[in-house]
Amino acid sequence: MTPAIPKVVSIAGIDPSGGAGLLADIKTFSALGAYGCGIVAALTAQNTQSVTGVHTSPVDFLRLQIDTLFADIPLHAVKLGMLASAQIVGTVADRLAHYAAPFVVCDPVMIAKSGDALLAKPAIALVREALFAQSFMVTPNLPEAGVLLDRRPPETVKEMYRAAEALRELLPLSSERWVLLKGGHLPGNEVVDLLFDGDRMVEMPAPRIATRNTHGTGCTLSSALAALLPQYAGGFRPVENAVRHARDYLLKAIAAADTLQVGHGHGPVHHFHATWPRAS
Ligand SMILES: Nc1ncnc2c1ncn2[C@@H]1O[C@H](COP(=O)(O)OP(=O)(O)OP(=O)(O)O)[C@@H](O)[C@H]1O
Ligand SMILES: [Mg+2]
Repeated sequence: MTPAIPKVVSIAGIDPSGGAGLLADIKTFSALGAYGCGIVAALTAQNTQSVTGVHTSPVDFLRLQIDTLFADIPLHAVKLGMLASAQIVGTVADRLAHYAAPFVVCDPVMIAKSGDALLAKPAIALVREALFAQSFMVTPNLPEAGVLLDRRPPETVKEMYRAAEALRELLPLSSERWVLLKGGHLPGNEVVDLLFDGDRMVEMPAPRIATRNTHGTGCTLSSALAALLPQYAGGFRPVENAVRHARDYLLKAIAAADTLQVGHGHGPVHHFHATWPRAS
């Protein structure tokens, strides 16, 4: 029997430049064999250089989007991106609990690559207390790890180990939950991500790719995870192998980013590096 094509939803913000947020998430789902759905938590006015405005979805309407979609489509995974406000975080956590949504990958987005804030301060406690309880995997970068743990962001791989352990303590301890701590913000020729389930720490190093076109790397990685986790379920070391596949996809998308030439700031990664024919 052919396994069912996973139906995956992103609950996130819209970046009109298409490099990050819901549009990038849908591209990633599509590139990795998942059917993509999207629920809009916020609109942004944004390009590759800056975010010039944010308009959040009214929470009643956000709840209506979630309830209407879940009433019809059994979803195999959920990616959470920019949720903008405490009210939205609370509503999303409440609905995910109600539907016992599987493979919730929470990218605790706080600041855009351009430096603009994407999450209101009062929402942070609610991310930690309500949203993490519903998350199968969380994927903070180093500044986000610092904020979530209320300490200075890790500055070495060794400090990343301690942070990954502390982050795991923020997730329910009695069931399978994973931390993917992203090391993109440490300097050096190597980028190291850490995967930790409370038991085994897996260090995932990769050579740093020299490009300024890294807009949406975090969005792309978390979406790749949501697309792939259901496809690896039931296999050997399913989560570790899904993460390796997702990182491999992202690294190739970063490596091909310069061919896209979008905008004047941090351009997007190439989501369809493996499938687009290139005229020679
Ligand atoms: N230049 C690079 N070369 C190789 N891998 C990279 C590079 N930059 C980031 N990565 C990888 O991309 C992923 C995203 O990491 P990063 O720490 O940049 O996340 P992020 O800050 O959340 O991204 P975003 O700003 O898009 O939200 C990680 O797996 C990281 O290792
Ligand atoms: Mg990010």
